[in-house]
Amino acid sequence: MRRTLPILILAVLVFVAAQVVVAQESMTKLAPAAFGTLTRPPAVFAHDKHNEKAQIAECVVCHHGGADGKQDKSASTEGTPCADCHKVKPEGKNTGLQRAYHKQCIDCHRTKGKGPLACGQCHVR
Ligand code: HEC
Ligand code: HEC
Ligand code: HEC
Ligand code: HEC
Repeated sequence: MRRTLPILILAVLVFVAAQVVVAQESMTKLAPAAFGTLTRPPAVFAHDKHNEKAQIAECVVCHHGGADGKQDKSASTEGTPCADCHKVKPEGKNTGLQRAYHKQCIDCHRTKGKGPLACGQCHVR
């Protein structure tokens, strides 16, 4: 028992980690539950394929950290939903959830001169 318990715990941890990797690999669309019923078709975003094609090596480019109204671009928070920090109905200086997605996605596409800018190119029917 003394030997098998740590192995069991390790097996569970590996299993959980694998689920997370599978989740982001198989992600093709974004439909965060925080919005409730979406008014637009879910935005297309094939997570791993997108980031390979766009040549974004650092996770923190999108998964930043921060608290109390201050963004921390050095703290990586991959796996944490944006909605944990960006509320649908923001208070104070908090960037609202819809604006957070739009600003992150569209600003980069604009800067790079690549990637969709029109509503219907992301919210594909
Ligand atoms: C171009 C932006 C971008 C980059 C770069 C990026 N991600 Fe993500 N990732 C997202 C978005 C957007 C979500 C969805 C977040 C949400 O649910 O609010 C997400 C979700 C995830 C999830 C949760 C999966 C799920 O199904 O809920 C994991 C895990 C993850 N990313 C890991 C990573 C790792 C590891 C890297 C770096 C190798 C990375 N991401 C790079 C944008 C990005
Ligand atoms: C751990 C908390 C946390 C997570 C997770 C998080 N953010 Fe933020 N983010 C912040 C804080 C704090 C700020 C600064 C205050 C503000 O603007 O709300 C910020 C600012 C921003 C800004 C405005 C600053 C700028 O770059 O122009 C955007 C856009 C943004 N976040 C998008 C996102 C997206 C998209 C995700 C998910 C992929 C995400 N954030 C995940 C905490 C977080
Ligand atoms: C840091 C830069 C960056 C961010 C952030 C980013 N993109 Fe992109 N995106 C690109 C680039 C560059 C391309 C063009 C890739 C190519 O075709 O060479 C692209 C292409 C796309 C495409 C075209 C199809 C594809 O997968 O190549 C879609 C759809 C897309 N992005 C959606 C999104 C969404 C939704 C978000 C926000 C969750 C997002 N992007 C965030 C850089 C970015
Ligand atoms: C680069 C991709 C991109 C473009 C371009 C874009 N959006 Fe979005 N939008 C997103 C993402 C990502 C979300 C959050 C995930 C989702 O709702 O699918 C979102 C969320 C939304 C939401 C809140 C969720 C809902 O469906 O109720 C609305 C409303 C919306 N977008 C409208 C628009 C409109 C209108 C335009 C054009 C002016 C537009 N978007 C352009 C990516 C994009």
